[in-house]
Amino acid sequence: MAYSRITQQQSRNGSAKNEPSQVSIDRYAVFGNPIKHSRSPVIHRLFAEQTGQTLEYSAELVALDSFNQAVKSFARSGGKGLNITVPFKQNAFEFATALSKRAQQAGAVNTLIIDDADYYGDNTDGVGLQRDLTNNHQQTLQDKRILILGAGGASRGALGALLTEKPAQITIANRTVEKAINLAKAFSAHGKTQGCGYDDLTQSYDIIINATAASLQGELPPLSASLLNKNSFCYDMMYAKAPTVFMQWAQGNRVTENNIADGLGMLVEQAAESFYLWRDIKPETRPVIDAVRALL
Ligand code: ATR
Repeated sequence: MAYSRITQQQSRNGSAKNEPSQVSIDRYAVFGNPIKHSRSPVIHRLFAEQTGQTLEYSAELVALDSFNQAVKSFARSGGKGLNITVPFKQNAFEFATALSKRAQQAGAVNTLIIDDADYYGDNTDGVGLQRDLTNNHQQTLQDKRILILGAGGASRGALGALLTEKPAQITIANRTVEKAINLAKAFSAHGKTQGCGYDDLTQSYDIIINATAASLQGELPPLSASLLNKNSFCYDMMYAKAPTVFMQWAQGNRVTENNIADGLGMLVEQAAESFYLWRDIKPETRPVIDAVRALL
């Protein structure tokens, strides 16, 4: 695959390990707008410390009309890889010269691997969510009924990875029903998926994932308590110092603390997968999740 080729290249150059005096430090960055509050620099600094890798990682504010230019200029200055965040994930998808299967499924790129004029686009968001649910929160997804709230980019990015766990079904509920139906159809070859509106939900779910942007405005889609059973696990892809409105909804409906989580673990897990793509080494995520949590 493209990224293993690049890793070999880095090793040949000696830039990943061993010969720092002969080469400049490998540079990475996250591109976004806004970017000030990005946690990615601290996460990657902690990964680098933990794994003994020498690299630089910065957060770069990119003007809305300058994405392509900014990537090329970063590459010219020796940049080896990028994380891409809002609102540029689609731009990166268009810009990439090759795409992983998971980037194609997501229709978006959150990680670029730069090798001369080659820009390999991948998407680590889905696997980040999958690992947070299964490793950090010990959720088994196989044969479970999963409900995803929202049918935007966050849902699209999650579906491919969730379906690899072979859940019994994934229902996508959205305010704009047609988007949910179309998204369910786009993934129907990979498992049982269905799209609907919030009013159409009639059963309870084992796992409910909030992938709407509603939390950002402190809002909540119209959710009935009948969506919950006594073991339901409620996960918000957003994270904040205080529980999100979706987490508060779960608390208010007597979901236990162990069964409520925010998306900080997903953030760290997707970063760990990017780090692995770039450096060919997997950092331990638990201490980094704890450290970033303490900074919120
Ligand atoms: P992202 O890329 O973060 O998923 P997006 O593509 O803009 O962002 O999608 C946002 C999602 O949040 C959509 O599913 C949107 O619903 P619509 O498709 O009906 O617009 C959902 N959303 C945003 N604000 C919401 C709100 N206040 N209540 C319910 N859903 C909301």
